[in-house]
Amino acid sequence: MPAENQTDALRRALVTGAAGGLGREVAIQLARRGCAVAVTDINGEGLAETVRLISETGARTESIVGDFTLEGAPEAAVTKVVERWGGIDILVNNAGYGVIEPFLDATFRAWTRTLALNVTALAMACKAAGRIMRDQRSGRIVNITSPGSRMALPDYTAYTASKAGVDSITRAAAVALAPYGVLVNSLAPGMMDTEMQRSTEVDLARANGRNDLQAFLDERTRRIPLGRRAEIAEVAEAVVWLCLDAPDYMTAERLNMSGGLDKD
Ligand SMILES: NC(=O)c1ccc[n+]([C@@H]2O[C@H](COP(=O)([O-])OP(=O)(O)OC[C@H]3O[C@@H](n4cnc5c(N)ncnc54)[C@H](O)[C@@H]3O)[C@@H](O)[C@H]2O)c1
Repeated sequence: MPAENQTDALRRALVTGAAGGLGREVAIQLARRGCAVAVTDINGEGLAETVRLISETGARTESIVGDFTLEGAPEAAVTKVVERWGGIDILVNNAGYGVIEPFLDATFRAWTRTLALNVTALAMACKAAGRIMRDQRSGRIVNITSPGSRMALPDYTAYTASKAGVDSITRAAAVALAPYGVLVNSLAPGMMDTEMQRSTEVDLARANGRNDLQAFLDERTRRIPLGRRAEIAEVAEAVVWLCLDAPDYMTAERLNMSGGLDKD
């Protein structure tokens, strides 16, 4: 299929894990800023709603439903964007998976599933988009990490280890792509009340023998220096800033949007 538009002004974006939560909000905000936005997720129903919301902004959009952990899936998603719009200017690696599992009960299944999405698929997406951006001599990649990547969380180690992997890939990709003017940064959101966060905290309460869920959640919120959880929209604003507005000299950076939870 011939490329529809190759003008410099058009920002062509791919957002992973965009069927809900942070990914959907980032996709909508990018669309409102005039980007053409391709979205991908394993959840087709949620993704269809995201596409509907993007279309309401008048932006162009493309839906890619599928399991991002399958071999070749990240590369195929990037190829689809390039075939459709002639290039790719923005990649937001937002898709994520995590499961509560006490360290001494760790399972192969949980670890492989977590690392397959959060680390391997993310690295393959950075590679695939990075190659196109290298040839374009422009582009921005934003990887979603977590304050957990620097914490000792024995009930959530596969996830925290995977996000430490995200930090590592971000630094390596930033250096690999720096000679071509391509920027790679990451963003660590604080606690946002998304589906993923809610089910994780329910499981965490159970693992800690807590039946008083609301009290447990309130205790966790009180640990945040700003004293409240993050709004999805404000975290998305920071992601979009990295994608569109951050200065050209900023790369290999990790931006904390955690209300002071992550202070390192
Ligand atoms: N919610 C928080 O408090 C919080 C805090 C820190 C970091 N994060 C990170 O933010 C990102 C977005 O999470 P969220 O909170 O919006 O949760 P979410 O569950 O709404 O988003 C994750 C998305 O990834 C998709 N996904 C899962 N497995 C997939 C697969 N194999 N292939 C394709 N898509 C798949 C899910 O369907 C979902 O739409 C994640 O990387 C998460 O680790 C979230």
